[in-house]
Amino acid sequence: MAVSQNNLLDQVLAYANRPNPYPLFAQLREHPVLAQGDGRYVVSTYKEINDILHDPRFSSDMSKCYSKEDQRVVEEEGQIPGFVFLDPPKHDWLRHQVMSKFTPDLIYSQKPRLLEVVKEALDTRRNVQQLDIVDDVAYPVPVTIICEILGVPRSDEYLFHEWSDQLILGNDTSQARNPEIRMQTLKAIKSIRTYMADLINAIKRQPREGLLSAMLHDTTNEKLMSNDELVTTSVLLLVAGHETTVNLISNSMFTLLRFPEWLERLRKEPELAAQVVEEVLRYEPPVQMLRRTSLADVTIAGVTIPKGAPIHLIIAAANRDPEHFSEPDRFNPERKDIDHLGFGGGIHYCVGAPLARLETQVTLVELARRLENPQLIDAAPPYRLGASIRAPRHLFVHYDH
Ligand code: HEM
Repeated sequence: MAVSQNNLLDQVLAYANRPNPYPLFAQLREHPVLAQGDGRYVVSTYKEINDILHDPRFSSDMSKCYSKEDQRVVEEEGQIPGFVFLDPPKHDWLRHQVMSKFTPDLIYSQKPRLLEVVKEALDTRRNVQQLDIVDDVAYPVPVTIICEILGVPRSDEYLFHEWSDQLILGNDTSQARNPEIRMQTLKAIKSIRTYMADLINAIKRQPREGLLSAMLHDTTNEKLMSNDELVTTSVLLLVAGHETTVNLISNSMFTLLRFPEWLERLRKEPELAAQVVEEVLRYEPPVQMLRRTSLADVTIAGVTIPKGAPIHLIIAAANRDPEHFSEPDRFNPERKDIDHLGFGGGIHYCVGAPLARLETQVTLVELARRLENPQLIDAAPPYRLGASIRAPRHLFVHYDH
């Protein structure tokens, strides 16, 4: 049964549709730009989303949105937002501060350590024949690596885990209007900022290995980040650095277990890992949607989006757009048309994409190699609550030794 076009976005956000939002995405794509009854706009086709991501008339700064709720969220947080929510020139300057130190060399130098961490995670499960891909492998691997890269003590994970989860949930389009979640999120923001400010003070006194120390003690820059900017940027990297890759590893394993011929091929041909990961980023992207607002009245695909409108870019729908991809609903790591939007596009293109790719490739190869005859225990695993970041919350598998 077709749902009213006026509440298609709410349908996408509804938890009941988390396991399979794709029929709704197909309905959405019939109208590349769709106004919802309440002033929100949804964009779901590849060309239109890609154009918007590269168009300076669309902003990531939600304080510029006419939605009072969005303005209040920015106001209540009362801090400079992470640069993912800022526009040029501030965005560009802060992003440069990170990118100049988060180099490809630094990322690729992590590979041996990464393999060690994956092996450790699997070795602790050596005598059992069942594991939860999410909690036993997909979470510990990226959290360990991002802590080591930043210079955040891994032993503090028990502190920031909950705050970081809450930040992700509070930022999710499906939850942002829930007052209880909002209150919990504001508390979590305060706690994680206090934690980070204390850590930064400690690093100021005593430099150490890692990106945070490098940003703090940068001697090549005329202007250093303010304390506030440092805290916000470090929180952004810590949260984005592990709360997203866990979902790519989980979505990848779930997809490979649903198409076991590809798991078998990966086991025999580990060099396929890069293609498998790119196809998962297209087929089951962990980040399903992005937010923007318009800085002027702009007409896209015949629809005029008014200045200040809240706009939802459904990148997961664009990734299955038949106008752009051949056989979009087929999982095919050998496809040539793989220019997905799983890491976004334009000036906000994901800073951590090379790290997330490497982490997921190494983890999948090791899982494919180590798990003999893995079987999903629950073919319909529970999903995380959020809609903006979509992935199973648990993924129990049984395997032979
Ligand atoms: C931005 C996805 C991993 C740090 C983004 C954006 C997407 C994305 C879609 C664009 C946001 C927008 O345009 O509004 C993902 C996915 C990941 C992942 C799917 C894992 C599979 C990481 C990691 C890090 C990271 C590991 C850090 C180490 C960032 C940052 C931005 C960003 C800082 C903001 C970039 C900017 O505004 O210029 N990510 N990300 N991400 N990501 Fe990731």
